[in-house]
Amino acid sequence: MKLNGATALVTGANRGIGAQFALDLLARGAKVYATARRPELVDVPGAEVLPLDITDDASVAAAAELAGDVDVLINNAADTAGGSLVTGDLRAIRSTMESNYFGTLAMIRAFAPILARNGGGAILNVLSAVAWTTVEGNTAYAAAKSAQWGLTNGVRLELAGQGTQVTALVPGPVGTDTLYAFAEREGIEIAPDAVIAPADIVALALDGLEAGDVEVLDPAGVSAKATLSGPPQIFPLSR
Ligand SMILES: NC(=O)c1ccc[n+]([C@@H]2O[C@H](COP(=O)([O-])OP(=O)(O)OC[C@H]3O[C@@H](n4cnc5c(N)ncnc54)[C@H](OP(=O)(O)O)[C@@H]3O)[C@@H](O)[C@H]2O)c1
Repeated sequence: MKLNGATALVTGANRGIGAQFALDLLARGAKVYATARRPELVDVPGAEVLPLDITDDASVAAAAELAGDVDVLINNAADTAGGSLVTGDLRAIRSTMESNYFGTLAMIRAFAPILARNGGGAILNVLSAVAWTTVEGNTAYAAAKSAQWGLTNGVRLELAGQGTQVTALVPGPVGTDTLYAFAEREGIEIAPDAVIAPADIVALALDGLEAGDVEVLDPAGVSAKATLSGPPQIFPLSR
């Protein structure tokens, strides 16, 4: 998928990895819709800013109406604070599933016909290495990411016929404010060399997207995938 001259829509572009995607897509010559539930917080010069809550059907439909020229959809937005499955707040658990799974699905359902009209295009879903393991303190998030992985594989199968490339980005820890806030809350000391910078993971993702890769893994993603051939494991976050 050639990004120079493409038209991309990024969800959750007001901070973290999403903001990095929007900036880097522009740098690679794409037109960019930088979307957020709080569009006033988007700081991506050169992007077209749209309001979008991926868990709100009317909001998703309005974005699809306004962005009919999209041929690259970056599903980045997610609630990452699910907490613990057995003892945590059920609303937080549902919210994590609602955004990671149903929100991503809503975006794909709304934009699949647009991608088809525009020549097939590509979808990139931002998953996580914890989808293939689990993680201390945030098992609900890991489970939602596992569901999103299954969704990604299913959608790839269903959209192959219309020529839409479906790519999974599977990173380990990425150095965003959200990751460091989580580590501080949980009293986890993350080894600095275990964290990839947002700019590095996005460069890897966009290179993979351009190369037509179905999965793009950083080193932590590679290690997590390798665990699938053995007994279930916990993602090693702490040093
Ligand atoms: N950081 C990591 O270590 C890491 C590792 C692997 C994968 N990931 C994945 O990478 C993606 C981004 O992570 P991040 O660290 O950049 O997270 P972040 O800084 O917490 O950003 C999350 C983004 O998603 C948006 N969002 C949440 N729910 C939404 C909804 N219903 N509709 C629209 N936007 C919504 C947030 O908007 P608000 O500002 O309005 O809340 C924010 O823009 C997520 O899918 C995450 O699971 C992160």
